[in-house]
Amino acid sequence: MRTQVGIVGAGPAGLMLAMLLHREGIESVVVEARTREYVEDRVRAGLLEQNTVDLLRELDVGERLDSEGLEHNGIYLRYDEENHYVDMAGLTGRHITIYGQQEVVKDLTQALLGRGVSVLFEVSDVELHDIDTDHPRITYEHDGRADELTCDAIAGCDGFHGVSRETIADQLTEYEYVYGFGWLGILAEAKPATDELIYAWHEDGFALYTMRSETISRLYLQVDAEEDIGNWPDDRIWNELGVRLGDVNAGPIFDKGITPMRSYVAEPMQHGRLFLAGDSAHIVPPTGAKGLNLAVNDVRILAPGLTELVRDGRTDRLDRYTAAALRRVWRAQDFSNYMTQMLHHLGGGRFERRLQLARLEYVERSEPAARSLAENYVGLPAEPDF
Ligand code: APR
Ligand code: PHB
Repeated sequence: MRTQVGIVGAGPAGLMLAMLLHREGIESVVVEARTREYVEDRVRAGLLEQNTVDLLRELDVGERLDSEGLEHNGIYLRYDEENHYVDMAGLTGRHITIYGQQEVVKDLTQALLGRGVSVLFEVSDVELHDIDTDHPRITYEHDGRADELTCDAIAGCDGFHGVSRETIADQLTEYEYVYGFGWLGILAEAKPATDELIYAWHEDGFALYTMRSETISRLYLQVDAEEDIGNWPDDRIWNELGVRLGDVNAGPIFDKGITPMRSYVAEPMQHGRLFLAGDSAHIVPPTGAKGLNLAVNDVRILAPGLTELVRDGRTDRLDRYTAAALRRVWRAQDFSNYMTQMLHHLGGGRFERRLQLARLEYVERSEPAARSLAENYVGLPAEPDF
């Protein structure tokens, strides 16, 4: 088989890239290791920056987002048993929207298939070849048959554990920070007891109150990275959430899991005709809610470069891809690390805890401090060109 751009991975990065390319009349094929059901049901974060929402609308896939997404104006920072509001919309004129990542994935998959773009699920043994040439290839097995896709370029959108980054491992410099803790996340059938998100600093550790709809709550607790979920029966979870967050509406829990936290960047994000985007190139701790939004930003930058390559055979824009994408990646790394370090129990003792409170109070007392947090949280405006 031959296509213009081969895309590995049907997460937000790969699917959004296929959409952006299709809009430009560029042909792509997406190969995904998992089943469609698995990818569409995988529970992940759910906070969209204004840029992400704008792009989904621009691509005509914003209909369900507009009817089911919850537009928020700000967040609460909770400490000393009180919620302190940060009015993001007032400070920046921009909004955030609560809409589950798997809903974005469903909408994009449906739109792509509807537009005749090939998304192949349950593909195995994916390998990348000849990326130093003008005709890189992806080999894989699908429906019990060995197959091969020859392309002009390959986009490695296969997440942190994919094969793309591994293929160019000896070309990369890695930057990594592993936190000693993780988040225990639950989804529950319960009306959220708050109108907007609550990020809570507490002696016992961080907690986050978020939601998916008027009837579904999503909550997180800081726990040890090695913690066993078996130690957390539902009663204990609700009890601890109440301690850290104050008023909480409990209800039946239908999803529960622990995710360890890390910060990671691989540079450069490209080699030859292979371009990494999203989690395959970088991971942020979820405290800044940047993972999905960064993935979308990468492909926003990558798509015009690939378009130029396919149409004119030129690589000027693609040559600038890494530098352009990394500006936002490192901004988000810094912000995610700042939010994480400000709000979690880091194990450093009393002095560290008082410094965290001083930082939180500064956000409340100083408009420039609040504005800086807000502009990072809602996301800096997308660069018009690069
Ligand atoms: N071959 C084909 N597909 C693969 C392979 C492989 N060898 N390895 C992984 N994949 C698929 C995964 O099954 C997954 O569906 O690649 C996809 C990668 O998707 P994501 O992990 O969602 O990554 P990305 O699209 O970059 O989106 C980033 O996801 O991890 C969250 O918080 C993160 O919200 C952020 C977003
Ligand atoms: C979520 O809604 O799942 C969510 C929101 C904000 C975060 C992380 C996760 O910082």
